[in-house]
Amino acid sequence: MSGNFQAPKGVSEYFPPKSGVFELVVRKLENVSLAANYHLIELPVFEDTELFTRGVGESTDVVSKEMYTFEDRGGRSLTLRPEGTAGVIRSIIENNLDRGQLPVKLYYRGPFFRAERPQAGRYRQFYQFGIEAVGIDDPFLDAEVISIAYRGFISLGLTSFELQVTSLGDEVSRANHRVEFLKFLGKLNLDEETQARVKKNPLRIFDDKRPQVQELIKEAPLLLDFLSEESSRKFTLLQESLNSLGIPFVVNPRMVRGLDYYTGTAFEFVHKGLGAQASIGGGGRYDGLMKTLGGQDLSGIGFGLGIDRIILALESEGLLDDTEIASGCLDLFLIPIGESARLRSVKLLEEVRKSGFVADMGYGDRSLKGAMKAADKLSAKYVLVLGDSELQSGQARLKNMTDGNEKSITLDSLVAALKNVYK
Ligand code: HAM
Repeated sequence: MSGNFQAPKGVSEYFPPKSGVFELVVRKLENVSLAANYHLIELPVFEDTELFTRGVGESTDVVSKEMYTFEDRGGRSLTLRPEGTAGVIRSIIENNLDRGQLPVKLYYRGPFFRAERPQAGRYRQFYQFGIEAVGIDDPFLDAEVISIAYRGFISLGLTSFELQVTSLGDEVSRANHRVEFLKFLGKLNLDEETQARVKKNPLRIFDDKRPQVQELIKEAPLLLDFLSEESSRKFTLLQESLNSLGIPFVVNPRMVRGLDYYTGTAFEFVHKGLGAQASIGGGGRYDGLMKTLGGQDLSGIGFGLGIDRIILALESEGLLDDTEIASGCLDLFLIPIGESARLRSVKLLEEVRKSGFVADMGYGDRSLKGAMKAADKLSAKYVLVLGDSELQSGQARLKNMTDGNEKSITLDSLVAALKNVYK
């Protein structure tokens, strides 16, 4: 039956059992980040609109076409965050987090908003897990950030993805490239709208998906061929570091990141089973962002991983059936028959849960058959039926739902019995 309301178009939702997968993905990414000394930053989902227009860049699709912007009751222009980096840097500056030990290492997760045309893997509200390491410019730190995403994907069992890296160079590299690139673009016959975009940021032309434009820029001079000595040295060190960590990668000099703040190292993880929306995560270094937002002139690096797309990737690799991911985790389901049994079960449940087991019981006046069906549907691993005779004798049968075997136990030692079977 469908009610009167539907979720807004293009938003992703997670409810059991898939929300269990969602949680597992976040937990595993958190674990690899915590192991590398990154700590949680929890930020507002809306910010001053200008934070994004200045931080992310007006030439980007994200800012020019996709922001959810609204005026609050005080007439301020606010925007639902389309990405996380600008907010993290805003908070670092505002709270003086960059006045202590550097780099500041933070992770975040939550919903982000972009008014895109919805399709598989592209949503208007989507979820990211991200990290930022701010204040130190060191290619080995770049390698650490990339390795955290890589280890996260591997710990989830993903294999069918490719890590692409490139360098967008420093100011000198980009100035050298720009001269040649503009010369090249000057010879092309571009429509007015494209010319206007290119004027704001020439590299944005690589974003253009139209085949005729892609054909025109096939021979365009590539930034990677214009790296300054310093940028080139850093890019080499990054690659050496990834090699020594045993992280496979390919260099993609035509990579386009959708946000304007990137400099130096840029990377993307592309999954082979996802069709058009193949990027399961990406990131890079951003030299000027903090200064642009009014802070110190410190560099930073980070990534954002798309949780929704990671779940689609797990699905495409057939990993959702993995016991760890799929397990309902219900250790015990109690089936009380009658009121006194229900009263006792409530108490038993409490004891079992306190001891760390996941336990539930059949509520309401259900038949034994109905309750057994419920236990089965919930994938309970053990079931205990509690009727008048069990209450009187203090003995009951613990049924293993996998093999059907039953074991006689005393009610007073239920926790010990569970510990024994789960040993
Ligand atoms: P981004 O490449 O725009 O980077 O987004 C990161 C990831 O978020 C993408 O690779 C994708 O998996 C996911 N994603 C983006 N848009 C959508 C969407 N509409 N629906 C579903 N998933 C989506 C950033 O956001 C940067 N802040 C990352 C970063 C952090 N760079 C440095 N630090």
